[in-house]
Amino acid sequence: MLLLNIACTLGLIVVVACFDLPPLSGRYEVGTVAFEIIDPSRVDPLAPDTRVRDLMLSAYYPTTTPKNHGLANAYTAPHAAFLERKYGLPSGAAANVVSQAHTSAPIARSNNDMPLILFSPGYGLSRSMYTSILSSIASSSYIVLALDHPFDTDFIDYPDGRSVSNTQAKSVNWKSPEYVSLRADDVRFVLDQILGNASVAAQIPGVGDRVLKPAKVALFGHSAGGATAAWTMHLDARIGCGVDLDGVLVGPVVDAGLDRPFAILGAEDRKANVEPSWASLRAASTAWKGEVSVTGSLHYGFSDLGFEAQAWRDQGGGEVSAELGKLVDSVGPIAGGRMLRVMDAWMVDFWKGCLGGEGYGLWEKGASKEWPEVVVRED
Ligand SMILES: *[C@@H]1O[C@H](CO)[C@@H](O)[C@H](O)[C@H]1NC(C)=O
Repeated sequence: MLLLNIACTLGLIVVVACFDLPPLSGRYEVGTVAFEIIDPSRVDPLAPDTRVRDLMLSAYYPTTTPKNHGLANAYTAPHAAFLERKYGLPSGAAANVVSQAHTSAPIARSNNDMPLILFSPGYGLSRSMYTSILSSIASSSYIVLALDHPFDTDFIDYPDGRSVSNTQAKSVNWKSPEYVSLRADDVRFVLDQILGNASVAAQIPGVGDRVLKPAKVALFGHSAGGATAAWTMHLDARIGCGVDLDGVLVGPVVDAGLDRPFAILGAEDRKANVEPSWASLRAASTAWKGEVSVTGSLHYGFSDLGFEAQAWRDQGGGEVSAELGKLVDSVGPIAGGRMLRVMDAWMVDFWKGCLGGEGYGLWEKGASKEWPEVVVRED
């Protein structure tokens, strides 16, 4: 069900497409902040000119004082305009998607040892397309830190008004190990900075001069971001566990396997056609591992886009642009809100296992009445 956002309709003669992302699943309210960090040591190999790697991040974290901090839009105004053009949406359709995270609310005190979960998006998508997933995970008492990969993300805008798009990138084989290793370098730089640079940690309101001392660190990603998760875990022992959302894995990790827990959530079409890189990784891994496929899902549904695309379609009253039609087809028939609940529940269950030592209840139990669309691979 879509909750109408009153602020979007008041005072407008025409009701602009307008909706809230679904409620959070955890017991905390959530704050969010976006910020930039620059890596002066790495020249950007994808940029059309000479510049260094310039990353935009969003943090989502529990807050106990959300009052006076309005709900953040899922997309910045320039990014929303970009998406409205790309998908042939009415003006305001992307601009008025409202998240459940409170802009710049201070982080809950006494929580600087909360586990930290990093996130890497799919190729050509952006961190903002996972706002619902990321904030819902944070509501179960995690700090979630998502990054964009410049000239790979569809559109990034920086605080000073500059923007970059992947259409400007030098040509790149985004499935190659070299390319995934560039993404892994981005993730490791973010981890170095958030753990080791007090002025970066201080970007999260309320952290102040306390440094973050997460008890554990995890990493997940979608598509190329899932490949990034496995590859970065292979390189970096600080990352205790990870999740791949429907990403084909590349690089030496596929044969080497992992010695820390790793979970894979795959689209329906992977159920019959075993993805070879997943089978290989699982066979070689010595730690806990799990793989499920979600009936009714397709590749792009492992993001907020399923929920958003279906809402835009439904609000169009039968008028759907060719581009939006393609997007709707690429997320699968499962209801977008249900898909978000599946991803949230199964990932939080996994985080409780590997970050909290509370077992892997859903994963171990397998088929259940509550999650009939989730098929656990038993081999
Ligand atoms: C720490 O972060 C600040 C702000 O991003 C940056 O200017 C500074 O160079 C960083 N210091 C180190 C040692 O990386």
